[in-house]
Amino acid sequence: MSDILIKEVMNPDDRKACFSIRVEVFCVEQRVNRAIEFDGMDDQCRHYIATYKGNCVGTARTRQLNDTEVKFERVAVLREHRKNGIGRLLMARAMSDAVHAGYRRAVLNSQVHAGPFYEKLGFRSEGDVFLEAGIPHRSMSKEL
Ligand code: COA
Repeated sequence: MSDILIKEVMNPDDRKACFSIRVEVFCVEQRVNRAIEFDGMDDQCRHYIATYKGNCVGTARTRQLNDTEVKFERVAVLREHRKNGIGRLLMARAMSDAVHAGYRRAVLNSQVHAGPFYEKLGFRSEGDVFLEAGIPHRSMSKEL
């Protein structure tokens, strides 16, 4: 069995673990304000968690925008576990679920540094760079 496992969050403990990763990556490492990070929309989202050898190391959430579009948000892997394919597996699982749920288009706001990561997953940039939570971002999308 692979050391990396991805699953959809179905219980409060896994949800807490996802939120801890977001605090570590976005609030501590990237200095995003907690009130911005925890935007009140988590209850509308599907959450995913990645484990490596049983430890929680990554997370992502997806949020319905309308009948055909889904937005990928809060994609984060703990710093010491990056560049090991965990982010790609998280996105692949969430995209597969989005296809099965009937969505036709995935959108996201990518931090500029992460653009190449999403491009490798088939997303394409649209429009100009803008600031979100004080961090430069670009809109990206992919037909599912
Ligand atoms: N710049 C360029 N390429 C990158 C990259 C980056 N910042 N991050 C990943 N990649 C590439 C990898 O090299 C790999 O390429 P390959 O398939 O040719 O080997 C591919 O993308 C998949 O990488 P993977 O190892 O699955 O990504 P990861 O587990 O390191 O996760 C992030 C990527 C962006 C989720 C992770 O860097 C992270 O959590 N960053 C901090 C939080 C953040 O900025 N999240 C994005 C918010 S929009």
